[in-house]
Amino acid sequence: MLSRQIRMTLKRIAYSVRPSCQLVLIVLGVLTVVWVLILLQRPLEDMASTKNKRIEVPRPKEYATKKAYETDIEIVYKQGFLGYNTSRIPALVYHQGYFLAFCEARKETFRDIGSMDLVVRRGRRLDWKVQWGEVIVVVTKPGYRVMNPCPIVDKDLEAIVLVFIAIPAHLSQWTMVEDGFIQQQVMVTRSFDNGLTWTYPRDITASTLGKMRIPPGIYAPGPGHGIQTSSGKLVIPGNYFVKDKFGSMLKFEENIYDNANYANVIYSSDGGVSWHLGGSIPYGTDASGWTIHSNEAMVVEMQEGVLMLNTRTLHPDLPRVQSWSRNEGHSFSSGKLVPELIEPGYKLVNNETQSSKAAGCQASLIGFPAPHHISKHKTWLAFSNPASMFREHMSVRLSRDGGRTYTNPWTIYDLPAAYSDLTYFETLDRETGLKLQNFAILFEGGMDTPYEKIMFKMFNLDALLSRVPRTIRRHRTAAGSD
Ligand SMILES: *[C@@H]1O[C@H](CO)[C@@H](O)[C@H](O)[C@H]1NC(C)=O
Ligand SMILES: *[C@@H]1O[C@H](CO)[C@@H](O)[C@H](O)[C@H]1NC(C)=O
Repeated sequence: MLSRQIRMTLKRIAYSVRPSCQLVLIVLGVLTVVWVLILLQRPLEDMASTKNKRIEVPRPKEYATKKAYETDIEIVYKQGFLGYNTSRIPALVYHQGYFLAFCEARKETFRDIGSMDLVVRRGRRLDWKVQWGEVIVVVTKPGYRVMNPCPIVDKDLEAIVLVFIAIPAHLSQWTMVEDGFIQQQVMVTRSFDNGLTWTYPRDITASTLGKMRIPPGIYAPGPGHGIQTSSGKLVIPGNYFVKDKFGSMLKFEENIYDNANYANVIYSSDGGVSWHLGGSIPYGTDASGWTIHSNEAMVVEMQEGVLMLNTRTLHPDLPRVQSWSRNEGHSFSSGKLVPELIEPGYKLVNNETQSSKAAGCQASLIGFPAPHHISKHKTWLAFSNPASMFREHMSVRLSRDGGRTYTNPWTIYDLPAAYSDLTYFETLDRETGLKLQNFAILFEGGMDTPYEKIMFKMFNLDALLSRVPRTIRRHRTAAGSD
């Protein structure tokens, strides 16, 4: 019917022009009709051939695209600040127009030992500028080092929930791992005024580490931020060392006092009041026989109830590990190596390359809404770490397929660099009324060592999309890694 009408119309037009053009117009008209019919036919064919796939309903355009924009790198902490020796272990969240930049304020040395406080600086965002406030001491505990700040913004309570650990100042982590019993506290504090004041910390060791079948020698949250899931649950990623039957089977350099190392989660369903033990990545080996050790971890929610852990491995030659949970973190699938996510494992000693004792490095991962109007994946990921053999080259990558593949790295800082944390924030585009998607990163770096400063940088999604190299390398283990 439709095609006949169109043909009639075309004929009428054709009769009104010179006879020599008539044939050309008729042929063009018929071709146009055929082309329109093919287009109309296509969705039906798609439905027939992909019966088992979910049909995505186009979503209204929510996000505007803009020109790529990134700020210069600025220093938030540096060695010697307020009489502290070194700032280390950054963690970053964004809430109600403020960035909260946490770190450990180490008093005696840059190393992982001696007295430490936890501190925060609040940065008020004024468009693409940040007004940083004074350093606020969040936790100090005489005789202890308070470590691994792991903050979460609880959107229901409008509160910042901070989980951390307290360890006797001069008890080394290697002694703890060798001893193999609990000699630390897991603690939580909350802020109801966006980081200005903090509640007296509460000890949550008994309901978390205390519930493990074999007591861990050491447990450490994060480092970096935790998440609130779509159901409102607070989830803290972390890792622990335990002397179990697998630990004693490890050979030579992989054996750390007969301990196995597991990334895990702890969670709270009541805004950070009570805490419980979640699942951990099971012990296992990958297809080529490498033992999977999962160390410092980050967690993202891929879709409702589906979490993914992305972790450091202590082996110098192994890349990062990922694992999925389909039950909101109660259990995790076996870990898979992610070949493109390389991490440092070496250091230069007297100009010679040597493998580090505890290799790998922390990384940050954050999930954010995919800007696609039609997208198979609801969540895209931004990932940051020193993508090198050494602790240097702070880099950011993007994953558009749920962590199966990552783009090549965009290096944002070329010099020595180590730990980092990413946060995501949305702003409003005044012209279109649509939302804009932006990121900030807080990371350790310096000229000669990575621990001289903690620095900050903002960029929009358009910058990330245009700065990451186009090529995507596929996982060796991509098949079925969900
Ligand atoms: C920090 O401690 C180290 C010793 O670990 C010392 O060499 C260095 O001078 C100290 N730096 C500052 C800024 O206090
Ligand atoms: C370190 O090694 C590099 C390359 O092998 C060489 O160019 C450099 O001179 C060496 N530096 C020192 C201090 O030995």
